[in-house]
Amino acid sequence: MSRKKIVVLTGAGVSAESGLRTFRDSDGLWEEHRIEDVASPEGWKRNPELVLDFYNQRRRDVLNAKPNKGHKAIALLEEKFDVVVVTQNIDNLHERAGSTNVIHLHGEILKSQSTVDAKLIYECEGDILIGDKCEKNSQLRPFIVWFNEAVPMIEIAAKEVSLADIFIIVGTSLQVYPAAGLINYIHPTVPKFLVDPNVPDVSHVRNITCIAKKGSEGLPQIVEVLLKQV
Ligand code: OAD
Repeated sequence: MSRKKIVVLTGAGVSAESGLRTFRDSDGLWEEHRIEDVASPEGWKRNPELVLDFYNQRRRDVLNAKPNKGHKAIALLEEKFDVVVVTQNIDNLHERAGSTNVIHLHGEILKSQSTVDAKLIYECEGDILIGDKCEKNSQLRPFIVWFNEAVPMIEIAAKEVSLADIFIIVGTSLQVYPAAGLINYIHPTVPKFLVDPNVPDVSHVRNITCIAKKGSEGLPQIVEVLLKQV
């Protein structure tokens, strides 16, 4: 018999206990930085150095962080399920916890990208500085999907979501589209679980069980139950 498919949609909250700040919590990144300054094409045009500084710090934080129990619980699901992680996060903590099929909707901080040819993407563990160029001699930028930019991976993610037998949402305020709209691609009868200490409004979603706990606590509980069912 073929394995059931679990799709897990994650946001910044799954990495909060690894020490990476979320965006919209009271101590979140958007309290200190303006989205339009550091996470938009207009901000990049106005002040690329500020944008590079912001993401250079994010990259250092990710390199110093370790996966937590939540990431590890998600990776364990692969023992018995076909698992796809659709993440809004730019860190690589799902991969480092052992997840093998991760779709990054908003890019990856450990990569850089050409500003003249979006297909030119490079591994990047150090800072990106003004003057760092791609092979076509244009300035490198972080490989991040900014506000007002298209989300190239959304169609692939939507297809995966539409095929899910079980859907898990963790650590996202569900405020950013198109990522938040992925919920609309799940079949209404599919069982859904949501883990977040501050449960967002999902009153329009059928068959959803909300667990008002942190990822490190709520995810191992769900995963244990799911693994026992198979
Ligand atoms: P948000 O900061 O909007 O939401 C974080 C969610 O995580 C909230 O619902 C918190 O309650 C929850 N949370 C906090 N601690 C948690 C924990 N220990 N365990 C589980 N959940 C916890 O982050 P996202 O929804 O990921 O995009 O934000 C979406 C996008 O907005 C980001 O990818 C980023 C941002 O702007 C771009 O920069 C393009």
